[in-house]
Amino acid sequence: MAFTIAIDGPAAAGKGTISRAVAAHFGFAHLDTGLLYRAVGRRMLEGVPPIAAAQTLTAQDLGGSGLRAPEVSQAASRVAAIPEVRAALVDFQRAFARRDGGAVLDGRDIGTVICPEADAKLFVTASPEVRARRRFDELCATGVTTDYARVLEETRERDDRDATRADAPLRAAPDAVVIDTSALDVEAAVAAAIAAVETRSGRARA
Ligand code: CDP
Ligand code: CDP
Repeated sequence: MAFTIAIDGPAAAGKGTISRAVAAHFGFAHLDTGLLYRAVGRRMLEGVPPIAAAQTLTAQDLGGSGLRAPEVSQAASRVAAIPEVRAALVDFQRAFARRDGGAVLDGRDIGTVICPEADAKLFVTASPEVRARRRFDELCATGVTTDYARVLEETRERDDRDATRADAPLRAAPDAVVIDTSALDVEAAVAAAIAAVETRSGRARA
């Protein structure tokens, strides 16, 4: 039976961490949809027109190093504003969402556009300062040289572009459970997410 969990939110809110843990808890498959846009963004930086890149994306494009680099994050959010790029990626995401055995998808528009019928929707967020601090720590840990002020500026810039674009802007679905992780550690955030999904699925069965 298909059961779809949609997890949306801004950059470095903890969507990926929560999605992996929720998927492991329920034995579901997980798709980080940001990787699709990152892969298209990386190909654009290599000189491939973004619409063509999205239309010919393969599993191989989703691997390799560099997908998390700051310049790829910015390129991803630029290509993500192009309607034809988004349209080319819809079928793959919807097929993944409907797979037997359950699926968790995380991104920006899963609960609003890709899976408006999802069984449970979460909107994971945190203050820009907390999110930038998390991303800064991650970048430092992977050996990237940067500074906090710059990461904060890039985070705000990307949030702004993602939330103001005309096609599938970042926003919480009206029926999403909002989880603010600003003051939560990973364990508490995961527990809140699992509890929210259990409440929703209990209601769905009732
Ligand atoms: O997927 P998204 O960009 O929303 O965030 P992430 O990659 O899951 O998380 C960004 C960083 O924040 C990771 O290093 C997490 O360990 C950390 N973090 C978190 O995800 N949740 C918390 N409640 C606290 C920290
Ligand atoms: O991990 P982080 O939250 O920093 O970013 P991501 O989830 O990997 O997404 C990278 C970029 O892809 C975002 O800034 C969005 O512009 C775009 N994206 C989107 O438009 N729709 C999605 N479902 C997922 C990502």
